Amino acid sequence: MYGEKIKKLFPRAVRYDEKWVKENSCDGLTLICLESLTGIMDLKPGMRILDLGCGWAVSSIFLAKEFGARVWAVDKNISATENYKRAVEYGCEDSVFPVKVDARSLPFPNEYFDAVISVDAYTYFGMDERYLEYLVSFLKPSGKIGILDGCFTKEFESPNEVPEHIMPVYYDREDPWYTVHSPEWWRKFWENTGKVKVLKSEIVPETGIIWEKYFENCSSFDSEKKLIKALKEDRLENMALFRMTADKK
Ligand SMILES: C[S@@+](CC[C@H](N)C(=O)[O-])C[C@H]1O[C@@H](n2cnc3c(N)ncnc32)[C@H](O)[C@@H]1O
Repeated sequence: MYGEKIKKLFPRAVRYDEKWVKENSCDGLTLICLESLTGIMDLKPGMRILDLGCGWAVSSIFLAKEFGARVWAVDKNISATENYKRAVEYGCEDSVFPVKVDARSLPFPNEYFDAVISVDAYTYFGMDERYLEYLVSFLKPSGKIGILDGCFTKEFESPNEVPEHIMPVYYDREDPWYTVHSPEWWRKFWENTGKVKVLKSEIVPETGIIWEKYFENCSSFDSEKKLIKALKEDRLENMALFRMTADKK
């Protein structure tokens, strides 16, 4: 059940059945994270949005319904047929277009989209310095891009600097500690390309409340238990979520 704090902060997300969101996402946090990200983006009806690493297309359905957008729901692992069925269930058959494809080989024309959004996915495919230039080629001039993902509150220069209580989380993951960065690092990572103007790169202000929901939703796998233990000990000092928005130059 969504508590009062979540209801107040994320009035749009809580309108969607919580069980449905949990069943169709990794951690049930997709919509509250997306509402936080879209809260700092200027999305308008009729826009063409690319939802990258959309998973089970819950976020794409939200973007179509809440903003009147047309959304291309891209994920390399999730069946487009299953995502289409979910879109139809929510009355979005003419506004959500599922495509099963790798974010690094997108089958779209140049300058096609008004916006690109990626929640909890960009780090899987966007860590190559040249990826942003590739991605913005699909955006119209002045098109918008927004991502939300995990981060550190500051950069660590060596393993010795990483606090002991959080290091165990990064031993056995695909994303070791040196692949996790601060919002300031992300700002430079994108701005150095000269392809975008970063508008915001900041810690998600609701991170603490989102973590609390994570504790409630997840705990069965060993990796989740490890992460929850570290997050509780960390108390938002080093581990957080960040959101970043930019306009194509
Ligand atoms: C942690 S899940 C997040 C899913 C969804 N955005 C959400 O918030 O519920 C990350 C998603 O990124 C997708 N993904 C990972 N690498 C990808 C790639 N190279 N191209 C497209 N999707 C990718 C995965 O299949 C997975 O569904």
